[in-house]
Amino acid sequence: MTHLERGRILDINNIHASYGESKILNGVTLSATKGHVTTIMGRNGVGKTTLLRSLMGIVKSTEGTINLNGSQIDKLPTHKRAKYGIGYVPQGREIIPKLTVYENILIGTESRSDYIRHFEEDEIYSMFPILKEFRNRLGGNLSGGQQQQLAIARALVGNPLLLVLDEPTEGIQPSITFEIAEVLNKLVDKGLSVLLVEQKLDFARLLSDHYYIMDRGRVIKDADKDNIDFEELKKYLSV
Ligand SMILES: Nc1ncnc2c1ncn2[C@@H]1O[C@H](COP(=O)(O)OP(=O)(O)OP(=O)(O)O)[C@@H](O)[C@H]1O
Ligand SMILES: [Mg+2]
Repeated sequence: MTHLERGRILDINNIHASYGESKILNGVTLSATKGHVTTIMGRNGVGKTTLLRSLMGIVKSTEGTINLNGSQIDKLPTHKRAKYGIGYVPQGREIIPKLTVYENILIGTESRSDYIRHFEEDEIYSMFPILKEFRNRLGGNLSGGQQQQLAIARALVGNPLLLVLDEPTEGIQPSITFEIAEVLNKLVDKGLSVLLVEQKLDFARLLSDHYYIMDRGRVIKDADKDNIDFEELKKYLSV
């Protein structure tokens, strides 16, 4: 099945966004499919994070629409978008350094739509055993890779339909990136949908079903994993 023949979980249509006077997104259109990994690539500064922040309502889009699983969400505040089913793992992770690992994960339950403020610790720790070992440590004392696992765990306990990851491999050791890829692939096999922003092609290729390439605030190309020209794609990456 091709990308668009599968059910869509997310439709972003003609999104525009600015910071003050500077226009960053110039009409981005893309969609993500259920139970798939959709990956956005592109070099530094092309607007990938701004797109995700617009998706979450952290940056207000000035034009365009966003639909999640059939509901239009682009006018909703950020916390409601999360409750509609988006689990967001921001670039740089943004864990809370003075809270413990357990407390950081618990924060993610605030995005649950059923108001249950509890999570299955065994389930999370089976995916990320290090978080069990460090359950009572302060988040700020974890390594970058451990913090990334913590940020993913925090997003997962909100029971998302769509997990959104912004450069999860940035600044972390390759061994941990492989562990993360393995966990994500298992979740996708169980039906989770993922929207991934990534610059490392090796990591992206472990997961991605479909690619979008961004340049200067626009999508300039997209292709399924089976017919993408990776040599051409590399021209649009920083390294
Ligand atoms: N808060 C902000 N205020 C003003 N300009 C910003 C702000 N955040 C980002 N920008 C600018 O917007 C442009 C797009 O930035 P964005 O962070 O979306 O890029 P990116 O594709 O995620 O890059 P990277 O790969 O380095 O994370 C850049 O020129 C950046 O300098
Ligand atoms: Mg970014």
